[in-house]
Amino acid sequence: MFDLTGKTALVTGSSQGIGKAIATLLAKQGAKVFVHASSSLEKAQRAASEMVGDTVCVVGNLANPDEVEGLYKQTGDVDILVCNASVQYRNPWDNVTPEEIETQLQVNFKATYRLIQLYVPKMKEKGFGRIITVGSVQQYKPHKDMPIYAASKCAVMSLVENLGKQFAPFGITVNNMSPGVIATPRNADALADAEYSKKVMAGIPMGYAGEDKDCAPAVLLLASEEGRYITGIDLVVDGGMKL
Ligand SMILES: NC(=O)c1ccc[n+]([C@@H]2O[C@H](COP(=O)([O-])OP(=O)(O)OC[C@H]3O[C@@H](n4cnc5c(N)ncnc54)[C@H](OP(=O)(O)O)[C@@H]3O)[C@@H](O)[C@H]2O)c1
Repeated sequence: MFDLTGKTALVTGSSQGIGKAIATLLAKQGAKVFVHASSSLEKAQRAASEMVGDTVCVVGNLANPDEVEGLYKQTGDVDILVCNASVQYRNPWDNVTPEEIETQLQVNFKATYRLIQLYVPKMKEKGFGRIITVGSVQQYKPHKDMPIYAASKCAVMSLVENLGKQFAPFGITVNNMSPGVIATPRNADALADAEYSKKVMAGIPMGYAGEDKDCAPAVLLLASEEGRYITGIDLVVDGGMKL
């Protein structure tokens, strides 16, 4: 079960954190995985060196639309597209700058849409494709200092439902995996603050933050042949935080 031999996969933002855990598991299950970093090939290579299986390292800053096109040129077509990379700014709503709005929408939403546009034609031709976007529990419980980030994730969920329906006749599934609070480099500083951390954990029914490896099996299911009848859903991996 969950054998990905013969499949190719791109996991954006797989140089660390959740993306790295996803890439690690997809490679272990037999896929050839493109490990992606925003700008440092060395960083992608460091991550890939810890993975078992077939990996190829690529770079591209998704804040730059030209580099989104460049990423497709580096990988060629893939069977499994995991749009995991995101940018997140913490700022009270009335301080959010136009630049912060643009970068978050570009990386989290526009680049995701463009990557789907680039990779889907071949998936349609092959009659097989798996698109998995990485959302957030903030789709349901938005943090007051991350309004644009939360909105960008809701916008992607709308794409998942819209495109999931359109691509279903072609053997292409489109799903979202929404993590709750997962201990990664992104939130290491915030969670190191004991008082803040205590408040956050109080909002998680399971009482603790997840690990990156908690998210990867959910993506594997959605990427696999076994997940072929699942499309247009949000698979929430959050220790009950959404409830
Ligand atoms: N951690 C959580 O608690 C949590 C909760 C809910 C949702 N999520 C979502 O889960 C996903 C992964 O989160 P994470 O915590 O693992 O994040 P992370 O530790 O901050 O890692 C982010 C990854 O995205 C890449 N990235 C960032 N900006 C980029 C850009 N402009 N262009 C291309 N790549 C870029 C980074 O590459 P470089 O390092 O090479 O720059 C890195 O590989 C994100 O979509 C996030 O929104 C996380």
